[in-house]
Amino acid sequence: MGLVTSPALDAAAQLVADLPPASAVWCSGLRKRYRKRTAVDGVSFAVGRGEVLGLLGPNGAGKTTVIKMLLGLVRPDAGEVLLLGKPSAEPASRARVGYLPELFRYQPWLTAAEVLKLHVRLAGAQVAPTERQECLATVGLADRAGDRVGGFSKGMQQRLGLAVALVARPELVILDEPTSALDPLGRADVRDLLLALKARDVAVLLNSHLIGEVERVCDRVVILDKGRVAAAGTLPELLGRREVRLRLDGVTAAVETRLGAAGPLTRDGDEFVVTLPVEPDPDTVPDLVADLVSLGVRVHAVEPARVSLEERLLDILRTPHEERG
Ligand SMILES: Nc1ncnc2c1ncn2[C@@H]1O[C@H](COP(=O)(O)OP(=O)(O)OP(=O)(O)O)[C@@H](O)[C@H]1O
Ligand SMILES: [Mg+2]
Repeated sequence: MGLVTSPALDAAAQLVADLPPASAVWCSGLRKRYRKRTAVDGVSFAVGRGEVLGLLGPNGAGKTTVIKMLLGLVRPDAGEVLLLGKPSAEPASRARVGYLPELFRYQPWLTAAEVLKLHVRLAGAQVAPTERQECLATVGLADRAGDRVGGFSKGMQQRLGLAVALVARPELVILDEPTSALDPLGRADVRDLLLALKARDVAVLLNSHLIGEVERVCDRVVILDKGRVAAAGTLPELLGRREVRLRLDGVTAAVETRLGAAGPLTRDGDEFVVTLPVEPDPDTVPDLVADLVSLGVRVHAVEPARVSLEERLLDILRTPHEERG
């Protein structure tokens, strides 16, 4: 081994110090087979600091398996993972990650406060009792701190799971279906909680079947299908298609031709939907309406609309593999 001079070492240290902070999650080429069944087949994505990423896909798509591989709970057959810039096998990186598993059960004889205390100790963190109590309050369990979790309802268990994921001040939070058992109020609370985490630059990886929820909080979405990434992007990228819905009376063939000139057209009785380009010309809709009126059409409604994430997801999942971009 050659000797490295100290200026070179200093320069190298400076280089590392000047690097942007590593992604919260980075994975590449993840693959997992269970016997003959391929559960995950070459999945790569990253979650930036302070970013909320939604992991979506049908039952059995491989979401939970991906999450478990990220956390080192399932060993990948191939691929690499970095959590907060470190291999996930390193305890130091895992200690700064909060995790809410999909299926879990806490020791039923412990109280909620004891469960939190135990998890803080397991994470090797220092969290004062008052802060632990505040954490229980954030998930709506303030008055149940002293109750045994064996008597908790399913939603209360999930709330406690969230508190466990959040209590040790993680820099990355991975939530596998955090709201499946929650009432509408609880879901809204979780939404606020996620936005608060994001504001503190905490990264969140969220897996949920509640698409509306994902749409409201996520910056970016990765859609898995049959173990592969079927689509990925920011919400504007995925939902780029805009539409205008019109309710019209007195539509003739000439009117239909005019509507079709604005973009691809669908009709359902007196309802017409025109799909507009991603960046429509601001005059497109007013010009269309003016022309419709001059063609003698009675215009009852004109509503701009954007494809919802749910519609887009179904669209993507119904497209055969080989036709996906
Ligand atoms: N321990 C295991 N042994 C055998 N097969 C498994 C195991 N874990 C997962 N699988 C298989 O891997 C595939 C992906 O499962 P996974 O739990 O990752 O799906 P998911 O996307 O999380 O689905 P859901 O939305 O239902 O939670 C499924 O076909 C499942 O049967
Ligand atoms: Mg799952």
